[in-house]
Amino acid sequence: MARLTIDGKEIEVPAGTVLIEAARRLGIEIPHYCYHPGLSIAGQCRLCMVEIEKNPRLQISCNTVATDGMVVQTGSPKVLETRKSIMEFHLINHPLDCPVCDQAGECWLQIYYMQHGLYEPRMMDEKVHKPKAVPLGPHVMLDAERCILCSRCVRFCDEVTGTSELGIFNRGDRSEIGLFPGRELANPYSGNVIDICPVGALTDRDFRFAVRVWYLDRAKSVCPGCARGCNIEIHYNVRRPHHNAGRRVARLKPRENPEVNKWWICDFGRYGFGFIDDPSRLLAPARREGPKAEEVSWEDAVQLLAGRLRQYAPEEIGVLASPQMANEDLFLLKRLAGHLGIRSLDFGVPPRDPGFEDHLLIRADKNPNSKGAELIGLLPRDGGPDARGMLQAARARRLKCLWVFHHDLTRSAWGEAEVLEALLALGCLIFQGSNANGVSAHAHLVLPSATYAEREGTFTNFQGRVQRFRKAVEPLGESRPDWEILARVGEAVGLDLRPTRAEDLFRELARTLPAFSGLSYRSLGDLGQKVQE
Ligand code: SF4
Ligand code: SF4
Ligand code: FES
Repeated sequence: MARLTIDGKEIEVPAGTVLIEAARRLGIEIPHYCYHPGLSIAGQCRLCMVEIEKNPRLQISCNTVATDGMVVQTGSPKVLETRKSIMEFHLINHPLDCPVCDQAGECWLQIYYMQHGLYEPRMMDEKVHKPKAVPLGPHVMLDAERCILCSRCVRFCDEVTGTSELGIFNRGDRSEIGLFPGRELANPYSGNVIDICPVGALTDRDFRFAVRVWYLDRAKSVCPGCARGCNIEIHYNVRRPHHNAGRRVARLKPRENPEVNKWWICDFGRYGFGFIDDPSRLLAPARREGPKAEEVSWEDAVQLLAGRLRQYAPEEIGVLASPQMANEDLFLLKRLAGHLGIRSLDFGVPPRDPGFEDHLLIRADKNPNSKGAELIGLLPRDGGPDARGMLQAARARRLKCLWVFHHDLTRSAWGEAEVLEALLALGCLIFQGSNANGVSAHAHLVLPSATYAEREGTFTNFQGRVQRFRKAVEPLGESRPDWEILARVGEAVGLDLRPTRAEDLFRELARTLPAFSGLSYRSLGDLGQKVQE
């Protein structure tokens, strides 16, 4: 351990801690560009200079290890003057095109200029010009004039993905970032370079000019793209609804969680939010008789469903839950199935193609809550059939009513013809989900679910970490969270559980299931907590 003083405050840090991190622990943010805790130290930008007692020259805080007895100043007159000069140096050849730069509002050149620069520019000569609007890959656009050569993007591709597509070419003020010949920035994590680029040099092709960042609001959430459950922020725009082509969710950004995703997310997750505002969203409950579908009120839909659940014997009913559902939904569904005596219960449907997986974050299981469904026990009861068995029973007309949540069975590993034969043999097919698919197209009753961005809830990732996601935007149309739909159906069939919030269900879940014991929304906080296994 090392005990030192930074800006008059004492702190003890583990041996090997660099000054920039020691200061951070005291809540002191030292301006910097090239330092990133997830990358090696480059010491390139020189902005993080601090004054250390008994040391005649200023030192960079990102590459100076804290030692016992050090006395450090991060805002002395000498530091402030140096910082100003370094800012001026970084901006000598910068095009200063902030009004047309997509990074404006979240650019560290702008922020630090206002906080630490504020000098009168002395650059009178023609600036060095470099390539602008160069696509580096499917997601990333480069403006080489705006680059301050911090090398974060290069180090990310060398050290995190190991793909090494980027380099710094030429020398002096002609130096510029670029791709190695024949390469494209198309690795599965390419979007992270946009996040770590401190300036407007690397911008997101998907997001560029869609909406200005100061119109965005933010909600803490969890990516539903695979079993990792990376922590994310949903950036949404409801203040300027005519921007972003009318879509409310504008982009997803990683949220740091050392136990799950560190600082990163993959591109599949980052760009996988289109379904939230997609025209395929189911907007109102609907019933179908013959080829015709008609919208019905929630009241009528719930009564209709309750009637069907009473009409059939429990052994004639199957429930196919989904690992896309939250713990709260699954818990209530399990209770409802138990109350109705349904034994045909399952959640797993094999995908048509095996999911891609890697050593970094991406998991083959493309569901956020398979672990939760397993722990809560959405499995066949007392010898009842599993998902495939339910389809076989439907074809044999032993199973007459099937309630499918979210799955598109027609795109599973099972043959489409086999699936359709089973679905068309049913007397009553109920589909509950957020978007239309091959099952909803044949359902006698369609119940529209809210997406994860439109509600509260929790997922349990493959490590057994329970993590909260928060509501960003209102449910589209008349869609409702799954737990709310289930609560209404439960009430109609006499279930004793009457939740009014997702949190009520989580409390009950933690009270009754040993794995979740001791957990609460408060204890989960922003980073989640592990179940007891
Ligand atoms: S493009 Fe961005 S991240 Fe890459 S070196 Fe330039 S400023 Fe740094
Ligand atoms: S690794 Fe999985 S959870 Fe993480 S961002 Fe990608 S799809 Fe989402
Ligand atoms: S952050 Fe220390 S030199 Fe760049």
